[in-house]
Amino acid sequence: MVEFKNKLNPPPFKIKTIEPIKMTTQQERKLWLEEADYNIFNIPAEHIYIDLLTDSGTSAMSDYQWAGIMMGDESYAQCKNFFNLEAIVKEITGYKYVVPTHQGRSAENLICFAFNLDHSKLTISNQFFDTTRANIETSGAEALDLVIPEAFDPLLITNFKGNLDTKALEENLKKKSNVAMIILTITNNTGGGQPVSLENIKEVSKIAKKYKIPFYLDAARFAENAYFIKLREEQYKDLSPKQIAQKMFSYADGCLVSAKKDGLVNIGGFIALNNEEIYLKIKERMVVVEGFPTYGGLAGRDLEAIARGLEEVLKEDYLKYRYQQLQYLGSGLIEGGVPILQPIGGHSVNLDALRFAPHIPQSQYPGWAITNAIYELYGIRTVEIGSVMFAKQKSDGTYQYPELELVRLAIPRRVYSQEHLYYIIESIIDLYEHRSEISGVEIIYDPGVLRHFTARFKPLS
Ligand code: F0G
Repeated sequence: MVEFKNKLNPPPFKIKTIEPIKMTTQQERKLWLEEADYNIFNIPAEHIYIDLLTDSGTSAMSDYQWAGIMMGDESYAQCKNFFNLEAIVKEITGYKYVVPTHQGRSAENLICFAFNLDHSKLTISNQFFDTTRANIETSGAEALDLVIPEAFDPLLITNFKGNLDTKALEENLKKKSNVAMIILTITNNTGGGQPVSLENIKEVSKIAKKYKIPFYLDAARFAENAYFIKLREEQYKDLSPKQIAQKMFSYADGCLVSAKKDGLVNIGGFIALNNEEIYLKIKERMVVVEGFPTYGGLAGRDLEAIARGLEEVLKEDYLKYRYQQLQYLGSGLIEGGVPILQPIGGHSVNLDALRFAPHIPQSQYPGWAITNAIYELYGIRTVEIGSVMFAKQKSDGTYQYPELELVRLAIPRRVYSQEHLYYIIESIIDLYEHRSEISGVEIIYDPGVLRHFTARFKPLS
């Protein structure tokens, strides 16, 4: 094969089944948006041309995975697919115990239970993903983000913007004796899918050991993180993604994984760990909330699909294609002058809404307004990661707005072709050229908690 440097090369797969997409008109979408109270979460999926809402659970499975689905052993206990999953997870992570869960957030919930988190405890991360934070905070404990400050500068290009600030970590551990655990999110989804270096993982591990704090990886996108390490950390360039992943896991005590991302499946997750006591507590709780510990809320066939997905996701051909796809999309937008969060992340390209629509103040939700315009004009669904999601009301009634106001374009794995990406690039550039026509939005119903899912809006003119 000829490798065209710094270009999007053809994917290492071909199409066997297709899912037709309904073609819609701008007039129809304008009406549907109004019916959805200008909240993109309310739009029926069949009214969407390209869905970039999330890369979670939206992967296309391979023929090998679908064949595995037919090999599902639906015995209640000790089904054979559990052992296949256990074997591959042990091979990749090196951990002793493996527990399947129905998705990532149930793994988080079980871990919070097993670590007896309560209001007296503190947990630290580079950046907790929303559901991890929600699980920790629901248990009463505090969730502290200590990502490096560079993560908040959308224009700064560095290799590992997802790194945890180890100086700040050590300062906190020196002062506070109530830190129950450290969870490093790889890649850092909240920060735009930015990777964490192996050096940083090692350093966090060293500090965690020194202070005897359990150290876990939220490894939903572990394979993408491994590939970034291969490309960007000189000393690991000759290792395979699998060898790098093995190294990453070797420095932590365990991991929580939503398999809906790098597991290349539509549902599933797992916890893997070395500590027997914690493992036994998880198992005890599992029976109450998830099911028998060898199926964890999943069917045997789902376990098989994850086992096979984990094998496939670490193939270098696949990871190279995935990386190039994101680079193609991001660079196309940069070339068109569109302001995006840099460098380009592992699973998403994020528009920098404050520079995209500087005429809309944060109190009028520029990210949300851009999201709605992208849907109405081009049929593409994206998601706001900005003030609707994160603005906090202060005691005097005014709002504190987040530093980054983003519109996330999350790319499902193995789903969209170069033509789709080309359409996305052209659409966003077109919108950017007409950006002065975008107007802000007003919230007319605010449910409070996780308001982006159910809030209702009205466009301002
Ligand atoms: N951890 C990370 C880093 C995630 O990105 C997610 C989900 C979870 C945990 C929770 O996993 O959905 O299987 O329960 N992220 C999705 C997203 C929802 O769109 O970024 P889950």
